[in-house]
This record gives sequence, structure tokens and C-alpha cells, in this order.
Amino acid sequence: MNQAFSHTAALPTTHPLMLQDAEKSTAASAVIKGYRGQVGDRRPVWFMRQAGRSLPEYRKLREGTTMLESCLIPEMASEITLQPVRRHDVDAAIFFSDIVIPLKLAGIGVEIKPGVGPVLDTPIRSAADIAKLPELTDDMFEPISDAVKLTVAELGSRPLIGFAGAPYTVAAYMVEGRPSRDHLGPRTMMHQDPESWDRLMTWTAEASGRFLRAQILAGASAGQLFDSWAGSLSRTNYQHKVMPYSQQALEHVADLTGEQGIPLVHFGTGTGEILDLMRDAGASVVGVDYRMRLDEVNRRLGNTPGPDGRTNVVLQGNIDPALLDADWDVLEAHVRDVIAQGADAPGHMLNLGHGVPPTTDPTVLTRLVELIHSIDY
Ligand code: CP3
Repeated sequence: MNQAFSHTAALPTTHPLMLQDAEKSTAASAVIKGYRGQVGDRRPVWFMRQAGRSLPEYRKLREGTTMLESCLIPEMASEITLQPVRRHDVDAAIFFSDIVIPLKLAGIGVEIKPGVGPVLDTPIRSAADIAKLPELTDDMFEPISDAVKLTVAELGSRPLIGFAGAPYTVAAYMVEGRPSRDHLGPRTMMHQDPESWDRLMTWTAEASGRFLRAQILAGASAGQLFDSWAGSLSRTNYQHKVMPYSQQALEHVADLTGEQGIPLVHFGTGTGEILDLMRDAGASVVGVDYRMRLDEVNRRLGNTPGPDGRTNVVLQGNIDPALLDADWDVLEAHVRDVIAQGADAPGHMLNLGHGVPPTTDPTVLTRLVELIHSIDY
């Protein structure tokens, strides 16, 4: 790999973030301004897992098509991406896909079992399994680029957020072969067989890095790296066995970032002890789960108010998804509290502290977006 580090292409002039026409450019959108620590025309919000099972129109469209198949039909992936924007008026779309799509595109036998999650035909556990991992090429990502292009043409000045799984979270599924609570397999491998671990994580970083790069070059205006399971690691293990590979994944798009470029969000759950490392891995925005207060995160990160400090990062989060099912006044009070906690941060992008639960009443999300837009900014 590593030819990624020689990428010199900046964003194409036709990219939605670079367009001169203010009507079409995403640069002045509330989300991009928010990610840059600036104030836009309204208080922006989007929701992780806003596309998908909480929407009846999603379930209807998906009938008869498996989850991963639907991600690879550009018209369908694009339509599912747009559904929550139309319904809720959220300020950004998140691309409908999955963190295991790069594996599928590379020819690895993987499916999403409903109610379970990603399941591999054969878990990847030995040095021999890792040696057999397929070579990755840019062509593989064509259905992804096509879906992104269709989507951004519809979105106009509203940004599309691209994403990828961080190497650890993806590798955890590869080694376990299915979802697990404790991630014992990958945590054993990183110590027992460091060489295999390095090869596996290097491959996964390249797969995720290329997946994210394809989305951004096709028109996504921001990117998010999901390290959902990073919270299962000690700080030391994260720092030495995982963080370097998340950096490698983000290196694939580093030339597209910077003041005028793509904001990068780094999100995980249970990450209170490693938020500074997640920032240092190369993100300008840190996603915070619902377990921590934003004011405490801000203090731990040494953020100072205003966008100019050297180490400052914008925070994203962290409405507790459990409260989407609570009485409205309980939810409203919680959301107002989250906004107050985020007020000292160099910027605050409202989102959930993890994904929308499938059982969520979509009308609650629509009402929540209305509330957030009505609050002074
Ligand atoms: O709306 C969005 O956020 C965009 C699409 C998106 C999906 N998955 C669609 C999806 C995104 C960003 C993801 C990321 C993802 N996938 C993560 C990181 C975020 C997180 O939630 O922590 C992880 C860990 C995965 C792996 C994965 N895929 C799991 C654990 C599951 C759930 C399994 C289940 O059925 O409970 C999936 C399936 C999945 N990914 C669905 C969707 C809409 C549900 C598929 C269905 O309709 O049955």
C-alpha cells in the first residue's frame, strides 16, 4: 500500500465544497460552518443511523433486497440516503452504506444478518487467512462513487457526510466473524501475534481509507471514521495497537482536508479515556457518545472557546438515544442540557450519542429537528 501517501490531488473544482455558485456550494451550509467552528444560519443537527430501519419508507424500499445488496445498487443507496433529509429536514445526509462494504467489494464473504449484524463466511484468524486477503483497487469502489454522485446532485447545498469504519472496529468483525461483546479475538491477536495483527490492520486501514476517499472525491463534503468498539481497549493498547492504523486510514484523505477542505469526525463509544488520542489521530471533530458530559470532554481535551487554539476541536454529540423513547418534555430538557454543555466548545454539532434505535418513532426525530432549529444559536 502506501501509495496513498503520495496522493497530491486536492478537491476537484467541481466538488460541492469548492463550487463558486453559493446556491450549490456546501461551504456555507450550517453543518460545514459548524464543523469549522463557525456559526451558520441555523443550529445544525443530523443523526447517526438516520437512514434505515426507523423509517417505514426504508423498510418498504428494501423489501426483497438484502442490506449489503441495497448498498451496491446506486439508485437505491442514494434514495435511502435522501429519505431522512426529506422527512426530517436534517442539515446533512449520511451516506447509506456499511463499514463492511469494502470487505464485500473486495470479494470477502460477508452479509448483514438482520437483528445480528455483520457475519463473515470464514473468520480471519490465522497468518494464512491474513495472507489471503485480496488486493484492493480503486475500481472496486465504483458503485459507491456512483451512488454518491446521484445523491449530491439531489442534495444541492446540503452536505453529504461520507464515512468508513476504523480499522479496529472492522477488524473486530473480521476476527470474531460476527458481532461480539468483549472482542476477545482481536484483543488476543494484537499481543499473541503482533505481525499478523499489523498485516490485518494495515489491510483494513487501506480498505477503509480507500472507501472514504472514494466517497469524498465523488462529492461527500465531510467524513466520519466510526470506531464503535474502540472503548473496549485500554488506553495503552489503543495508543500502540490501534491508533497508528486509524491514522493510516485518515492519511488516505489527508490531502483533502485543511481549512478549506473536508472536516473529519472521529467517533467511538466508551472512549472517555482516549478522546485526546482520537483527536490526535487526525480529526478536526471528535464525536462523543452519551456516556460523558460535553463540558467534561471539553475540559479533558483542553479546548479553549473560539476556533483558533492550536489543539481545539469541535465536539459532536451526544443526545442519549434512549431518551428518544421518553416523554417529550424529558427529551426536550435533555436536549437543552446537551446544548448548554456544548456551549463552551470551539464548536458543537448536535447529534445522538450513538445511532438511532430501530424502534424509534420517526415523528419524534422530525419534532426534535424542529426544536433544535428553533433554539437561538
Ligand atoms: O444512517 C446511517 O448512519 C448511514 C448508514 C450506516 C449503516 N451502518 C447502515 C446500516 C452507517 C454509518 C453504518 C455504520 C456501522 N455499521 C457501524 C458504526 C456505527 C455504529 O452503529 O456503531 C457499525 C458497527 C456497523 C456494523 C453493523 N451494520 C451493525 C452492528 C448492524 C446492525 C445489525 C442489526 O440488525 O441490529 C449493521 C446493519 C445496518 N447498517 C443497518 C443499517 C441501516 C440495519 C440493516 C437492516 O435494515 O436490517
